[in-house]
Amino acid sequence: MKILFLGDVVGVSGRSMILKNLLPKINDDKIDFVVVNGENAADTGVGLTEEICRDLFNCGVDVVTTGNHVWDQKETMTHIEKEKRLLRPKNLFEPSPGKGFGIFKAKNGMRVGVLNLMGNVFMKKCEDVFEAAEKFMKKYKLKEDYDFLLVDFHGEITSEKGAIGHLFDGKATLVVGSHTHIPTNDARVLKAGTAYQTDAGMCGDYDSVIGMNKENSINRFLKKKSIKHFPATGEASLCGVIVECDIETGLARNVKSFIYGGELKNSH
Ligand code: FE2
Repeated sequence: MKILFLGDVVGVSGRSMILKNLLPKINDDKIDFVVVNGENAADTGVGLTEEICRDLFNCGVDVVTTGNHVWDQKETMTHIEKEKRLLRPKNLFEPSPGKGFGIFKAKNGMRVGVLNLMGNVFMKKCEDVFEAAEKFMKKYKLKEDYDFLLVDFHGEITSEKGAIGHLFDGKATLVVGSHTHIPTNDARVLKAGTAYQTDAGMCGDYDSVIGMNKENSINRFLKKKSIKHFPATGEASLCGVIVECDIETGLARNVKSFIYGGELKNSH
């Protein structure tokens, strides 16, 4: 059983690379389940639309997760109520539209729980993520409620992500970070069997500043006249992790980071 998680898809560049390469990848690597963080997938680099979700599902994505930009395209507030495969962070203040957790069927028929969480440090205000995680673990159990559990932790700082990884160790198949758009080089299986990587990185053009046009980004930091910001348009690198899961325990046998195409050194 193999699960592929791809980090934040940024703009047209990220989307087109996924649409072109995901199905062949799923077939070649015998991937059973695919989760993609899509919160930057819109043309503007913020939010996502119903049409973008449809394209992602049509090319083999099983679940789309999000984060702080989830509501940046207003249609998502209504779309998420009817599209159960689209998640928003579970610890948003209630009431919020949509759900932050779901149980889905993989291509091989196994049940995969997907939990979307958002960090508290340097992020939009939301409920305490550690309290939300503990509450979740009291309610749901690996191998009882689902065969595998993937946690997308959308957060800014590495310490918070590391702590969430250890908190879920032995209780999730994979804890992977998103949001910083830079892949970390720490993919490993933790002591009790949970696969972990602090950040998956983005699926976007790395000749940029976290996926956005580099000149505009520099000018914004230099506080020069503000120009309309937009995503970089070069070839994207697809970044994520592939976990090989143990069917008996629901935990990870091994995990490797996945980098394909674009500016970054490819790991596949
Ligand atoms: Fe984000």
